[in-house]
Amino acid sequence: MNVTDIKVIGVIGAGQMGSGIAQVSASFGYRTLLTDVDVEIARRGKAKIGAILEKQVAKGKLSEAAREKALARIEPKETAALAEADFVIEAATENVGLKLRILREVEGRLKKEAILASNTSSISITQLAGAVSRASQVIGMHFMNPVPVMKLVEIIRAIQTSPETYEATRALATTLGKTVITAKDQPAFVVNRMLVPFLVEACFALQEGLATAEDIDQGARLGLNHPMGPLELADFVGLDTLLAIAEILHRDFGDDKYRPPVLLRNMVAAGWYGKKAGHGFYVYDDNGQKLKPG
Ligand code: 3HC
Repeated sequence: MNVTDIKVIGVIGAGQMGSGIAQVSASFGYRTLLTDVDVEIARRGKAKIGAILEKQVAKGKLSEAAREKALARIEPKETAALAEADFVIEAATENVGLKLRILREVEGRLKKEAILASNTSSISITQLAGAVSRASQVIGMHFMNPVPVMKLVEIIRAIQTSPETYEATRALATTLGKTVITAKDQPAFVVNRMLVPFLVEACFALQEGLATAEDIDQGARLGLNHPMGPLELADFVGLDTLLAIAEILHRDFGDDKYRPPVLLRNMVAAGWYGKKAGHGFYVYDDNGQKLKPG
């Protein structure tokens, strides 16, 4: 598969990351099949993208015609429709069992030349590739959140990934306006290997009573010039996702420096997943506006 052969992009998962990927794919001219366990979830994902594009039109950053065209390119579908896709990006919840099941289920429906990319933020691409028969056409394509805003895509080659698959994926990411870095297939790759210990350490600091959540975040915003403090960013990424990545780092490197704090485990157990749940280190209103520490 060459990048010029890619006309239709399939996205599995219409949550935060999948919707963002679909928005970018459609904005750059690709027919985009947005799928989820239920087509209604994919329809809701499309509606959220519509609202984001609407805001851009209101701000004068996007023309009404471009909004309409981008939205028309997004088709909420059942996963069976992925048979039409040339390039499929899996963006389901960060759970290895779930991802393996999805890849096995979907693979049999795809064109034989289609590339299967995973947006996993930490799971071994080699393990995912090993679960399907087209292992050489499996690759990691890790977008950052919010996908339409963040410039980076981290590409991860499984040991089975062919040079052709890598080149096509790299070229596609560039066509989608992103800058690429390439990582080996090790737990959490490059970006989350750096980020997750930072967010987890902020959580330990809060657990120890070192400072308030607001002061920890202010420390990073004003002291390090980060756009968000680590606890806000943890809420934004999702505490369930953060815990899942921390557990993979801890288990796969076998190093206690990556152990997740009890506070994070308890918050996830309570369903306080961060911004998407309305409650994490902070409490949020229905529009996602931060109200106060949680
Ligand atoms: N879709 C499209 N555009 C969006 C958006 C979205 N979901 N969210 C925000 N934007 C746009 C806004 O429309 C605005 O655009 P404009 O400048 O053209 O008007 C611009 O982004 C800035 O947004 P806001 O003015 O609302 O707010 P901020 O200036 O506070 O920026 C932010 C918001 C871009 C999220 C910024 O706070 C930020 O960069 N935060 C850090 C994000 C980060 O670190 N992401 C990486 C997370 S780690 C990751 O993704 C890896 C994963 O595996 C865990």
